[in-house]
Amino acid sequence: MSKHIAILPGDGIGPEIVAQAVRILDKFIADGLDIKYQYAPLGGAAYDQYHHPYPPFTQKICQQADAILLGAVGGPQYDKLERSLRPERGLLAIRKDLNLFGNLRPAILYPELANASTLKPEVVSGLDIMIVRELTGDIYFGEPRGIHTLANGEREGINTMRYKESEIRRIGKIAYEAAQKRNKKLCSVDKANVLETTELWREIMTEMNKDYPDVTLTHMYVDNAAMQLVKAPKQFDVMVTGNIFGDILSDQASMLSGSIGMLPSASINETGKGMYEPSHGSAPDIAGQNLANPLATILSLAMMLRYSLNNEQAAQHIEQAVGKVLAQGLRTQDIFEEGCQKVGCSQMGDAVLAAM
Ligand code: IPM
Ligand code: MG
Repeated sequence: MSKHIAILPGDGIGPEIVAQAVRILDKFIADGLDIKYQYAPLGGAAYDQYHHPYPPFTQKICQQADAILLGAVGGPQYDKLERSLRPERGLLAIRKDLNLFGNLRPAILYPELANASTLKPEVVSGLDIMIVRELTGDIYFGEPRGIHTLANGEREGINTMRYKESEIRRIGKIAYEAAQKRNKKLCSVDKANVLETTELWREIMTEMNKDYPDVTLTHMYVDNAAMQLVKAPKQFDVMVTGNIFGDILSDQASMLSGSIGMLPSASINETGKGMYEPSHGSAPDIAGQNLANPLATILSLAMMLRYSLNNEQAAQHIEQAVGKVLAQGLRTQDIFEEGCQKVGCSQMGDAVLAAM
């Protein structure tokens, strides 16, 4: 039976980076992989077409798909829209709608890019961290929320940090299983010294350890984790944390690897269905100029093949091709250094295809 993929180019550099990943997908299809795909808009592009960042048209295609490939959403032209219509709300809505609670964000330093990091090569060389971020709960979705006016006329903003036990357990399971497949070290990040929500988080992560006795569990407060990530990042294997801490720590970890333009991500639910997207944003400042780095999106396609389409071989095929292209010295501007050859987004796509 064919697998169905929804392709959501989104905004900014989204369409151009997704186009390069689709060329690789087309190659797999030409070589016999039974995949069908369909495009749909999300974010600002969806607002322009349907006046909603996650319109019913897109929702239907995504609900029916086995996996989703997303570029990025957002742009300054949408900043003035009413909050509920902004592109980011489309992203949050699709995560919630499809129950994509498990966000996997690897931070890997390719040996060829050791100099692209702002940290000393000896601190980051060989870096390979997997951040497991909870994606559909926490202060991002907790009620009550909003901005209201108090009796004295002063305004107050409210968001609510909350996690149910079941939500913590299901992300814990993903994190423990990821650790079992790697170096069996799991660091749970919280703020249990101040926030009760994360006190419960710590308790449950600890309790779950008895089901995964081969995994060494440690706990770290989020402020210390932020410090340790730049001080000695190689101490980490898998990190698991809630939505807001994961948002911040994953951006931080990405820069250890030189450029956020290199990092893919997966957001999965209990059935293995997933949405795959680069960890970076829509970079409106360089959109449409053939300057963006398509490698994070291409590597997101590899993650899709691995986690949702059960095709480890194809995933590795892509990852090896990316390694080859870097070894050849090809660099988009974000990872460029002296002595390398600067290429644009589509040339990088050409090179990965050729390397396959
Ligand atoms: C991310 C992004 C999103 C988030 C934004 C765009 C809503 O920063 O995927 O990390 O905060 O989750
Ligand atoms: Mg973020």
